[in-house]
Amino acid sequence: MPDTSKKTISGAICEVLGISDARQKATAMCHLVAAWKDTTLGLGNQPPPDRPGRPDRPLLRPPRKVPRRRVTQSAPGRIALLHAIAHIELNAVDLALDMASRFTKTQLPVDFYHDWLGVADDEARHFLMLSDRLADLGAACGDLPAHDGLWQAADASKHDLLARLAIAPLVLEARGLDVTPTMIDRLKSVGDEKTANALGIIMTDEITHVSVGKRWFDYMWGMDRLDPVSTWHSLVKRYFHGDLKPPFNIAARNAARFSAASYGPLATRDDLVASPEKRPDA
Ligand SMILES: [Fe+2]
Ligand SMILES: [Fe+2]
Repeated sequence: MPDTSKKTISGAICEVLGISDARQKATAMCHLVAAWKDTTLGLGNQPPPDRPGRPDRPLLRPPRKVPRRRVTQSAPGRIALLHAIAHIELNAVDLALDMASRFTKTQLPVDFYHDWLGVADDEARHFLMLSDRLADLGAACGDLPAHDGLWQAADASKHDLLARLAIAPLVLEARGLDVTPTMIDRLKSVGDEKTANALGIIMTDEITHVSVGKRWFDYMWGMDRLDPVSTWHSLVKRYFHGDLKPPFNIAARNAARFSAASYGPLATRDDLVASPEKRPDA
């Protein structure tokens, strides 16, 4: 657990990032939130580790060698789904903590740290919720292999806050908004209301995370007087090696104030993007 007695906020964040045990890391978030509320602690500028602490398992494999997520009546498909999402949530804890500690030399308002520690706290809660659900099904995080794509994306943008904001929340987390409702529907169709409810809670929080990403992306490009849409496009092309795949969950993205005017032009198929008259302003 982070000892906040003589530390800075960034030091306390780094301590949590260094924890290898996933459940211990997730539960340590409450200490970090307490450190954040301790007004005697300064932010400091302790840099985060290049690679956060991780458990020995799951073994990391290329994406094509990771078990396919299937929502099935039988448990193995749902275990694979829960395992994959739990692994994403653990990565998301590290991503949010890294965001809150890597860029301390940039002059940023205190709200920046408040927002990303809040995101990390949500991600830790998501991880614990899914771990508990895995346990209900007789499985645990680490039982199956997983891929390392999220952390690789974080690593690629570690020198550039604007690039990190362009990719982590506005490509990767936004993708979660697109795919989660279908997963929830399928889980309900096979009678797994508990997992469906957990994903419903996560979905609501993830809208907030995308909106936090959009808020700080907009703040950063505003500081540099850049054009937001073309800047985002060039960063996505440079740092994200994949397609933005429709269909998009336009309602959820709109709720996060992330307009189709930004992501629509990068879609692989224009026909599945919202029609122009439905596109709101950002
Ligand atoms: Fe999450
Ligand atoms: Fe998130």
